[in-house]
Amino acid sequence: MNRSLLLIISLATSLAIITSSCEKVPFYTAQKSELFEKAAISGPHPLATAIGEDVLRKGGNAVDAAVAVQFAMAVCYPRAGNIGGGGFMVYRAADGAIDALDYREKAPAAASRDMFLDENGDMHPTRSTLGHLAVGVPGTVAGVEAMYEKYGSLPWAELVQPAIDLAVKGYRLSDNEIGRIEAVQETLKKLNGPSPFIQDNFEQGHIIYQPELAKTLERIRDNKAKGFYTGETARLIAKEMTDNGGLITEADLAAYAPEWRTPVTIDYDNYRLISMAPSSSGGIALAQLLGMVNPYPLHEYGFQSEAATQLMVEAERRAYADRAEHLGDTDFHPVPIKQLTDTAYLNERMADFRTDSAGTSKAIAAGQPMTKESFETTHISIIDEAGNAVSITTTLNGNFGSKVIVDGGGFFLNNEMDDFSAKPGVPNMFGLVGAEANAVEPGKRMLSSMTPTIVEKDDKLFLVLGAPGGSTIITAVFQTFMNVAEFGMPIDSAIRAPRFHHQWLPDEIMVEPTALGSTVRNSLEQKGYKFRDVNRMAVVKAVMVMPDGKLHAATDPRNPDDDVAGY
Ligand code: DON
Repeated sequence: MNRSLLLIISLATSLAIITSSCEKVPFYTAQKSELFEKAAISGPHPLATAIGEDVLRKGGNAVDAAVAVQFAMAVCYPRAGNIGGGGFMVYRAADGAIDALDYREKAPAAASRDMFLDENGDMHPTRSTLGHLAVGVPGTVAGVEAMYEKYGSLPWAELVQPAIDLAVKGYRLSDNEIGRIEAVQETLKKLNGPSPFIQDNFEQGHIIYQPELAKTLERIRDNKAKGFYTGETARLIAKEMTDNGGLITEADLAAYAPEWRTPVTIDYDNYRLISMAPSSSGGIALAQLLGMVNPYPLHEYGFQSEAATQLMVEAERRAYADRAEHLGDTDFHPVPIKQLTDTAYLNERMADFRTDSAGTSKAIAAGQPMTKESFETTHISIIDEAGNAVSITTTLNGNFGSKVIVDGGGFFLNNEMDDFSAKPGVPNMFGLVGAEANAVEPGKRMLSSMTPTIVEKDDKLFLVLGAPGGSTIITAVFQTFMNVAEFGMPIDSAIRAPRFHHQWLPDEIMVEPTALGSTVRNSLEQKGYKFRDVNRMAVVKAVMVMPDGKLHAATDPRNPDDDVAGY
């Protein structure tokens, strides 16, 4: 048979498979809040949570489910679920043992301190966020392998296969997802060759098939992390970089290793919070926030009362100021964790708190409004039948990361390099400033705000939570926990409740439209606070253990695709 005839037949066959499978690709709806008897997941996408539920039902533990959900999210939630990014896991075993895994991206060996500055020493407008220089060495696949090797129980291939099937059989885009993809179409076209995500028109219910990603996942299924960091996939990533002025080499990929960390633990009344250590700032900032507000009777003040809001805002201002100065990758820069979370230090930090006027953030640099970039990290909270709990936040950073798709590999790469402090005092895309502790260095991890957290109440597992949302992640986890612990809300209301956010710079309180009554707001304005209305804050996903042992899984209406599953 001649080659063109063969090609026509094979094209016709694939078309027939696609057409016949088309009808089988279901539409789905997201479930926001539900009580489950035994095991539960709260995550960003119904297809991913369904895969996690299957794993749990067939006897997999919370880590097995997390492995399967992570790979599934790389297929059906590609704007943040990933294999080309990184993340953090906080873990609590049913017997109370705790652990934390840092699989954050790293700067490549050829990265340099001033790589994002132009000839005049000014911050380049797009280099740290868009295209190949923005990409950090991905950590996800190595991280997922590490959590599996330590805690997983089902065969690895069984956990990866559902993602491969999803990539081959296709999934339908929700209207929300089509909007997200269309928002970046022009950039995707500029940076990439053909891809299932590049198209002139996405009709409603459009089905995405990802044969190249399926092949990449098969290599991971067959060779675990080696199937990503060496061999064909590593070559594809390195080629993508050398062809386009990026820095990541095969040697960078082969050298990547995740790190087990000691989780940050925080005592708050009869609760103990277990959260992420550096290279995320999340756990330390959360410890500072809770330490600073703990001496005050928040419960008596009431939810979003003037007194509670002002106190929480001033704690947030101080915690983010410390973050900017002191926090970075502890493998490179000594972070005074003990001192920063010490009760005496935190009391001292609040000594100048006045209720009659606004505090001020020393203007070392003009803060900038938050980026227009939508919030595109993602989080999963899981409790299995035995009571093991997993809290994972993972990301590409921006919506579809650097917008670079690995040619031949079919997956997006992160733009995490923007989380470094590229120039002291100059804000990144979340308006966060930083200093020496978070300067770019080869092999270093960029500072994160991701705050995967597990909460014990009276020494028993109580709540698993976390969120995407850039700099607003920390305050969202803080306020959601406060809503439960101080203001007595059930977890779904605690998540839904409108939030406010202060991050030291810019010196303003970001508020969701329905947050804070007008009386409280007017009164705070008179004291000197500035407000800025924002439409979206972090998107919390949680599972709470009820007094009768049932599991209340809840997600955030702020993301229409967020979903809970369980049994
Ligand atoms: O690690 C961080 O703090 C950021 N890269 C997180 C980015 C994020 O949450 C984006 N939106 N949801």
